Amino acid sequence: MKLFDVYPINDITIVRAKGSHVWDEQGNQYLDMYGGHAVISIGHTHPHYVQRITDQLNKVGFYSNSIRIPLQQELADKLGKVSGKSDFQLFLCNSGAEANENAMKLASFHTGRKKIVAFRKGFHGRTSLAVAATDNRNIVAPVNETDNIIFLPFNHQQALEDCFRVHGPEIAGVIIEGIQGVGGIHVAEDGFLQQIRTLCDLHGAVYIADSVQCGYGRSGRFFSHDFAGVDADIYSIAKGMGNGFPVGGILIAPHILPKHSMLGTTFGGNHLACAAALAVLEVMESENLMEHATKMGNRLMGALTSIPGLENVRGRGLMIGFDVPDRMKDLRKQLLLRRRIFTGEAKPNVTRLLPSLALSEQDASHFLETLRSEVNTFDNIATTLKP
Ligand SMILES: Cc1ncc(COP(=O)(O)O)c(C=O)c1O
Repeated sequence: MKLFDVYPINDITIVRAKGSHVWDEQGNQYLDMYGGHAVISIGHTHPHYVQRITDQLNKVGFYSNSIRIPLQQELADKLGKVSGKSDFQLFLCNSGAEANENAMKLASFHTGRKKIVAFRKGFHGRTSLAVAATDNRNIVAPVNETDNIIFLPFNHQQALEDCFRVHGPEIAGVIIEGIQGVGGIHVAEDGFLQQIRTLCDLHGAVYIADSVQCGYGRSGRFFSHDFAGVDADIYSIAKGMGNGFPVGGILIAPHILPKHSMLGTTFGGNHLACAAALAVLEVMESENLMEHATKMGNRLMGALTSIPGLENVRGRGLMIGFDVPDRMKDLRKQLLLRRRIFTGEAKPNVTRLLPSLALSEQDASHFLETLRSEVNTFDNIATTLKP
């Protein structure tokens, strides 16, 4: 059987990983400034994480949600403490798309309404409602098309105001990334998030903070939405939550009440996933990874700004983007193939940095020196080619 060929892949096979590094079959070491797509939060194969999952696997790996799983409550308590949202409720699932799917469904159940407001360049996943709320027509199948999603320009207060004035009584929820990831690292302005809060309160709609990529400490705060000083009604989480173990969830404000069978999943909240997610939070706490992400993010962004040629350096914590001019369009490829550094991208010309929150000073320095020298290579070629 062939694999269904949907991923444009690099011809590299990773066989080992540790901290911010991975190794290929030939033993070549790579620096991971991409975090396996913002997933590696505490570092690859962290010893505490490996131990906790191994211990759990030796006890019980899985049983369904038809029995008590005390690890789920342990995770909810820990997550409440670390995120500061201890009065919220937790529903566990398996991926980011599933988290957003449930978040929007819950907003609709709660309000009895159908319309969801989403934003240009937003990405929320590939399942039916999540993909319909994603601003990329190429990945929306005809069956997923719906007029229940209203797309608005990002950070545009007037458009949001106008939309609520016209559609207010029909709007179930507003879904927004605190920092757009796939769309190219665009930070939601504090004033815009505050306005979403106000309008949702005014019109009885649900504010959904998609924190799948920008959450879980990546921005230096647990939720990047926290910078705005307002609470959302639902936070969706995944990626960094399991450091690679597939787990996701939604944090739900106390006023949204559950009903039996309203949401559900076979694998969500299984024993192993809970053990992985608990290990991540324990390491985040014991190694102060949110403070560390702030420090390293400031250092990286400061240094990136001083590299001639890189434009519009932006982001928060260890979620950083910059634009590269056309003459450097192969920069990412060069970094990977010549210098063995993984970075992320967003079309057409954005380089995204999403390393482990435990990125060391030494690895950050190595990255910056290498990047500087690669950028110089492009500039030298450009100078040589000048008539
Ligand atoms: C902001 C955001 N939401 C949702 C998703 C979907 O997550 P998953 O791929 O786990 O379904 C992603 C994935 O990149 C994302 O960046």
